[in-house]
Amino acid sequence: MPERIVDVQHLDELLGRPTPGVVATMERLEGDIIILGVGGKIGPSLARMIRRASDAAGVGRRVIGVARFSTPELLRQLQSEGIETIRCDLLDRDQLAALPDVPNVLYLAAMKFGATGQEGTTWARNVYLPGMVCEKFRNSRIVAYSTGNVYPLVPVAGGGSVESDPPNPVGEYAMSCLGRERIFAYFSQTLGIPVALIRLNYAHEMRYGVLVDLARKVTSGEPIDVTMGYFNAIWQGDSNAMTLQAFAKAASPPVAINVAGRRTLSVREVAEQMSELMRRPVSFTGDEAPDALLSNASLAYRLFGQPQVDESQLIRWIADWTVRGGPTLNKPTHFEVRNGRF
Ligand SMILES: NC(=O)c1ccc[n+]([C@@H]2O[C@H](COP(=O)([O-])OP(=O)(O)OC[C@H]3O[C@@H](n4cnc5c(N)ncnc54)[C@H](OP(=O)(O)O)[C@@H]3O)[C@@H](O)[C@H]2O)c1
Repeated sequence: MPERIVDVQHLDELLGRPTPGVVATMERLEGDIIILGVGGKIGPSLARMIRRASDAAGVGRRVIGVARFSTPELLRQLQSEGIETIRCDLLDRDQLAALPDVPNVLYLAAMKFGATGQEGTTWARNVYLPGMVCEKFRNSRIVAYSTGNVYPLVPVAGGGSVESDPPNPVGEYAMSCLGRERIFAYFSQTLGIPVALIRLNYAHEMRYGVLVDLARKVTSGEPIDVTMGYFNAIWQGDSNAMTLQAFAKAASPPVAINVAGRRTLSVREVAEQMSELMRRPVSFTGDEAPDALLSNASLAYRLFGQPQVDESQLIRWIADWTVRGGPTLNKPTHFEVRNGRF
């Protein structure tokens, strides 16, 4: 991996670069792939990785990205990269029914921010929509994103929640995410749909993620609240690679897989490190609580291999990008929220 990520083009190239494991999975997987919710933070790089891995494997499949595409540039950009696009409001039954039936579905559509105050929309998107999608794609296999938020806050020294721990979501957004899992489980069992649920805990690239939130606070001189004192961070290229390899693990009933970084990172230590790298002072408020939202991704590493980018590399990349004034998506993670209200 390079010492520095130069610009957005370089970033896109790295995020969409497939690993040998992804190429092998795309070679073995039969049929076309549709990505529902391709227009957000993860979808474009996931679509590119599928395209590149399938091409590298010599597999001529359709890769179809579906979203409402509020930004038309993305639609044109994906098309120019060999990714078909369909503009669709998935909650519109007729539009959903008109989507092509393909054997492989990646499910990304979700709602997090603004969930407080728009509870009905949150549950419709996070729980009702998965049911509609399962009925439509009853003959497909589905890899669906879930989130580490289905777990409760856990003691920091414990190494993070594992898949067999009972879920205990905090707040209505997280509850709706558990609802999403339960609806996928129901349809997986009743219709025999193979499903893998990816419990992701903070994907990162140069333009968003907890590390980006911290780098921005160091830049602005805003004090950093350390009450939510610990977190996991994974390079989005690594989380993409694990997600795509999960097609080979989809099963009925569904398999849940944590996808997260290797280390439990301390907000205070990371911010101090960034302050040094960025040559800016940093200040803190609050005291570290004894628990935090943390996942243990050992299962994913056993199944799919270790992440290729470690947390220290991510911190250096993001500090350098921020100092150079690189663009961000302006989408803070709100990782510091402890009461589940997003
Ligand atoms: N990023 C992370 O670190 C993280 C962590 C944990 C879990 N996850 C999960 O991973 C998944 C993808 O994450 P993300 O960060 O890429 O999410 P995101 O930025 O919110 O993107 C979600 C996408 O879903 C689309 N969508 C939502 N409702 C739709 C509808 N009714 N019809 C058509 N498209 C719809 C949005 O389309 P428009 O562009 O048209 O609005 C957008 O493209 C989500 O399920 C999220 O819960 C992500």
